[in-house]
Amino acid sequence: MKLNPSEAERLARELYGIAAAARPLPGEYDDNFHLVAADGAAFVLKVMHPEREPALIDAQCQALAHLALHAPELALPRVRPTLAGERFTTAEAAGAARLVWLLGYVPGRVLAEARPRPPELLRGLGRLLGRMDAALAGFDHPAAHRELKWDLARAGWARQLLGCIANPARRALAERALERYDALAPALPGLRQSVIHGDANDYNVLVSAPGEWPPRALSLIDFGDIMHSATVGELAIGAAYAALGQPDPLAAIAEVAAGYHAELPLHEPEIAALFTLVCARLAVSVVNSAQRAALLPGDPYVTISEAPAWALLERLDAIHPRLAHYALRAACGLPPVPHSPALAEWLRAQNPAPVLAVDVRTAPSVVFDLSAGSLLLGADPAAAATPALGEKLWGAMRAAGAALGVGRYDEPRLIYTSPAFASGAGALDEHRTVHLGIDLWLDAGAPVYAPLAGSVELVADNAAPKDYGPVIVLRHASGDGTPFYTLYGHLGHDSLAMVAPGQAVSPGQQIGTIGAPPGNGDWPPHLHFQIIADLLDMGRDFPGVAYASQRALWRSLSPDPNLLLGIPAERFPAPEPPKEATLAARRALLGRNLSISYREPLKIVRGWRQYLYDDTGRAFLDVYNNVPLVGHSHPRVVRAAQAQLALLNTNTRYLHDQIVRYAERLAARMPAPLGVCFFLNSASEANELALRLARAHTGQRDMIVLDAAYHGHTSGLIDISPYKFGGPGGMGKPAWVHVAPIPDDYRGAYRRGDAAAGRKYAAHVAEIVARLRAEGCGLAGYIAETLPSVGGQIVFPAGYLAEVYRHVRAAGGVCIADEVQVGFGRLGTHFWGFETQGVVPDIVVLGKPIGNGFPLAAVVTTPAIAASFDNGMEFFSTFGGNPVACAAGLAVLDVLEEEQLQANARHVGEYLLGGLRALAANHAVAGDARGMGLFLGVELVRDRATLEPAADVASYVVNRLRERGILAGTDGPFHNVIKIRPPLVFAQPDADALLAALDDILAEDFARV
Ligand SMILES: Cc1ncc(COP(=O)(O)O)c(C=O)c1O
Repeated sequence: MKLNPSEAERLARELYGIAAAARPLPGEYDDNFHLVAADGAAFVLKVMHPEREPALIDAQCQALAHLALHAPELALPRVRPTLAGERFTTAEAAGAARLVWLLGYVPGRVLAEARPRPPELLRGLGRLLGRMDAALAGFDHPAAHRELKWDLARAGWARQLLGCIANPARRALAERALERYDALAPALPGLRQSVIHGDANDYNVLVSAPGEWPPRALSLIDFGDIMHSATVGELAIGAAYAALGQPDPLAAIAEVAAGYHAELPLHEPEIAALFTLVCARLAVSVVNSAQRAALLPGDPYVTISEAPAWALLERLDAIHPRLAHYALRAACGLPPVPHSPALAEWLRAQNPAPVLAVDVRTAPSVVFDLSAGSLLLGADPAAAATPALGEKLWGAMRAAGAALGVGRYDEPRLIYTSPAFASGAGALDEHRTVHLGIDLWLDAGAPVYAPLAGSVELVADNAAPKDYGPVIVLRHASGDGTPFYTLYGHLGHDSLAMVAPGQAVSPGQQIGTIGAPPGNGDWPPHLHFQIIADLLDMGRDFPGVAYASQRALWRSLSPDPNLLLGIPAERFPAPEPPKEATLAARRALLGRNLSISYREPLKIVRGWRQYLYDDTGRAFLDVYNNVPLVGHSHPRVVRAAQAQLALLNTNTRYLHDQIVRYAERLAARMPAPLGVCFFLNSASEANELALRLARAHTGQRDMIVLDAAYHGHTSGLIDISPYKFGGPGGMGKPAWVHVAPIPDDYRGAYRRGDAAAGRKYAAHVAEIVARLRAEGCGLAGYIAETLPSVGGQIVFPAGYLAEVYRHVRAAGGVCIADEVQVGFGRLGTHFWGFETQGVVPDIVVLGKPIGNGFPLAAVVTTPAIAASFDNGMEFFSTFGGNPVACAAGLAVLDVLEEEQLQANARHVGEYLLGGLRALAANHAVAGDARGMGLFLGVELVRDRATLEPAADVASYVVNRLRERGILAGTDGPFHNVIKIRPPLVFAQPDADALLAALDDILAEDFARV
């Protein structure tokens, strides 16, 4: 019989003198109540099941009292004594004698509800458990020495009940985990023992509120399973539940372990037992459920609640237990493979036979940079195709007079293009990039020799494209007899018959030859030579290239082959400085207000189409860089600029056809009377010139600008950029600048759906014009982006610009269209932003995408304005309009047309906007999705009625997108608009990837409003 709340309230009053309202808490066995007293103090009243033993309650109370004393900084539940000073007591409730005790209520929500579980949270959980166990080390209680089925030191029972699992594959899965446990079990009593909480599952761990980022592990509740057991069991249980549903469960377990180890250093045998114990805990859990399901057939809850445990068990089953062990050692700051450092020492002391006939120590050689940022290879993946790669490498070797090329160890590369190197089919799925061997590039047919004595472990032909081709692995023994291996890949087919498995080999004995493509795995001829400290039962499939996310682990598994080759260090190009060094140098050498994107800065070394690649070879989808209009490193633009740079690059004081050709092409894209071009190097220069043109033409100075606008970084442009002069460090608005409201039909005074919104916003410009007239002031002009970007990816209401231009022209001003962000087809339906408003400006300013990243900008104006500007003062820009810049600009126009990128922007943009609008319908925080073509924005708000901006969520979302490999940014006066304006080669699968990631992230705790 369940106790009712009024009984609980009575007990609280009589036993504790607390007048409180009681609310039952969920619980199967005991009666627990949440009590809130008049003064707001909250408690948990525990009325135990009549069969509970007092000793066990005493153990819990004493453990909590011990923790309150020895780890007071932990927010664990505190026992509140009765009025008589007892930690617990016996009282009559609902006709039975019940044990009653009271705890202070610990606020928080359970870990099970936390989405996502970032590394900081997992590590913090480890620290909490480690700190608690360190404090419990000095605690004992007779009742904690008990037999409990959840005790990981006694998990053997589960194997007897495997029969309850009906599905044979699942039964086998649980059995494998329990088999490994049985093998470990005899060693468990030898591990450190202590009293532990014993049930740090994801419903017993409390974490901080959803609005806190990163979330923190705050507390642990329910000490009902307290037991004396192997201490590491605590961590294993906590880690098992923390890893449920995580994208990389081993990494999650490693984070928890790292946190635990920081507070309570783990002993090596404990680390060695951890993975097996984690799997055993999951197996025990699923066996227990299967048994319950057998007793309660048809209860769907039992199977649903176990689904995550099965899924995790399956994921962990796919990881070699020794690999997991090494990863956990790494997390605890130990060398991942225990014997790897000693092996490296031993190898260094050997005097191996040469692996090639040429002496790699002395023969002339070229050490190649084949890294992600290799200038030799460039961004075009075509450079990695076998013949092209061979030509590059052999060309460089010929030029250096070398017959030997060397490819580096531990180098992240992007030449591994076959699906076998990818963790999934998506472009953003992690690809293996880090080379674990040394390549020796030389002509096919050259003999390959064993450097050390050993035996043949395997001979195989891995014939799949870009695999090893014919491969031989030799087994050796280091000084203390520990086995290790050397691997020889991309051999000739004759090698397959040269040695046989099991055969002994002596140093200097020929074991194979260098193979030729395509039979060698289809690579230019070379030997891939690798050392392997532990073959991990992988045989011929031991990887030669590792995931960068596991780089330290695989470096330990495969130490540097140069330990045996001895190529002089000075031959190697300087390694890429690590990201941290680049960041430090940048901080020391460059102005501090040169900003860096993202909480975790990126070091980008390569760009190709809509992708950017960091120094580890990780691909990122670029969804907000509008400069590489036709795609990063477009070969056509690259070639055009390179070819012209190799011929002539000088200023515009000589006749050259490139500049007139380009001016002709640009002018042809403009409506009459726009037809006179000026070329510059940046949009800031172009806007500066536009201001000068306006002033020269009108003889006036005053300008009307839009609120939140940005037009460039020069002094003159800061003056007309409210975003700057009104922002941090800004000096305020000069008297000659007049700010009109931004025609934002989502948050402005006139909203979407108001057919007259355009005219109403334009009326504010008319007001300024009237005021100036009344004050006797003239007007030079009006400048605005035709779709404000910095202002928050705004689309003007229909008719706005036409009205504004009418008012401005009536006052004698000129109309300047800043097309820097939106021009060149991005909008899909139109080539220029002003066309979407049906107007023709007097001056058009072009920049950013115009040269696809090559410094280039332009001003296009009318003959009349150009004539006014031609007032005797020479116009000259040293670099503006040089032949190289014009070649780049011409190539951009060619590519836009040939690849029909404006049409692509329209189709993909419409698709993406549809998807974003669907997201906005599903996620309260996404208040608005808007834009045209591939110029889109999602505005985040805390409240759809007040439109309170959610800048913190926007920042959270772009940082989470970055973690998922998608680069977006924020914009808008409140920094709450996610800007989406990718290179125009952006395709539908890219849109899908972005939409899926946004859908997930907007559902995460921090984004829920
Ligand atoms: C609308 C607009 N105009 C002008 C500029 C200035 O361009 P640049 O940095 O190339 O001088 C920018 C730069 O962000 C811009 O967004």
